[in-house]
Amino acid sequence: LPTHYQLPSGDRIPSVALGVWKAGKGEVGTAVKACNNPNTRRLVAYSTDRQHLSPATVILTNEEEVGQAIRESGITRSDIWLTSKLWNNFHAPEDVESALDDSLNKLGTEYLDLYLMHWPIAFEKEPGPDGNSIYAENLSENPYPTWQKLEEMVEKGKVRNIGISNFNIRRIQNLTANPLKVQPAVNQVELNFWNPQPELVKWSKENGLLLEAYSPLGSNNQVGNTLRIPEVKNIADKLGITPAQAVISWHVQRGTIVLPKSVTPSRIEENLQVTALPQDLFEKLEAAAAAHPPQRVVNPSKSWGLNFDVFEY
Ligand code: A2P
Repeated sequence: LPTHYQLPSGDRIPSVALGVWKAGKGEVGTAVKACNNPNTRRLVAYSTDRQHLSPATVILTNEEEVGQAIRESGITRSDIWLTSKLWNNFHAPEDVESALDDSLNKLGTEYLDLYLMHWPIAFEKEPGPDGNSIYAENLSENPYPTWQKLEEMVEKGKVRNIGISNFNIRRIQNLTANPLKVQPAVNQVELNFWNPQPELVKWSKENGLLLEAYSPLGSNNQVGNTLRIPEVKNIADKLGITPAQAVISWHVQRGTIVLPKSVTPSRIEENLQVTALPQDLFEKLEAAAAAHPPQRVVNPSKSWGLNFDVFEY
């Protein structure tokens, strides 16, 4: 299975990387350091955690800790893949660069390997009393002005690749219908056994857009069930690997990047070891995933007060 995928920029992105969303304070550093594995040389990718400070803005909470851990580990910057995201209240073109600069400062780095538009939805810059619900309609349907600013950040060398997150096919097409200077490198979405999104996977493959799987083992409360799926256990038994490795290998074999979150060093190590699955076992797991109604866990549409489902519309 591929250890890396090539992006339009020519950069090679690791196929499996560490996600640190929801990693608690004090845990992030341990996790980042555990990724400094000279055997795999597939180091950290990193997804931001968010804290909602009512009524103030949303801040990305673990960037400082990630930055500190990287410095303490002595890892060479070029050996790490660093990803961060632009939060929804900084979509206005004049706000993009300062949001990015803030991330760069906190991480203590000159550049990001990948910067993602976190959601296709823009908020007003100053959130309402609940921190979220105010929603700037005029920006929501047109991500292109934000994207143009992101392209400028590539030109300036502050980010090497730019991408999107939580975009459905209609929204991707809405963006890529514009004369883009830089194509989206990836689309980061929820992908797991319970929400396998075969149509999005197929469309993305046909259109040359890499997908990154967040919550690849299922969301927190699904992980136990994921690791007990008969098809997963069967693969693990036959190949002498762990159920988590079977699932992560399935993702890579589907052609996606996988971001398993863990703060446990032994699991981080475990999760980086992927193995090609025999085609029949791969197909059985794929069929089992498609055989039940999809259960998406991450969907903030209601909590944001949208009158539509951000994934459906
Ligand atoms: P931990 O971080 O304590 O190691 P999320 O929904 O945030 O992606 O959650 C992933 C969950 O899966 C976390 O609770 C994480 O626990 C757990 N996890 C990650 N890797 C493994 C593994 N190899 N085996 C079992 N659980 C895992």
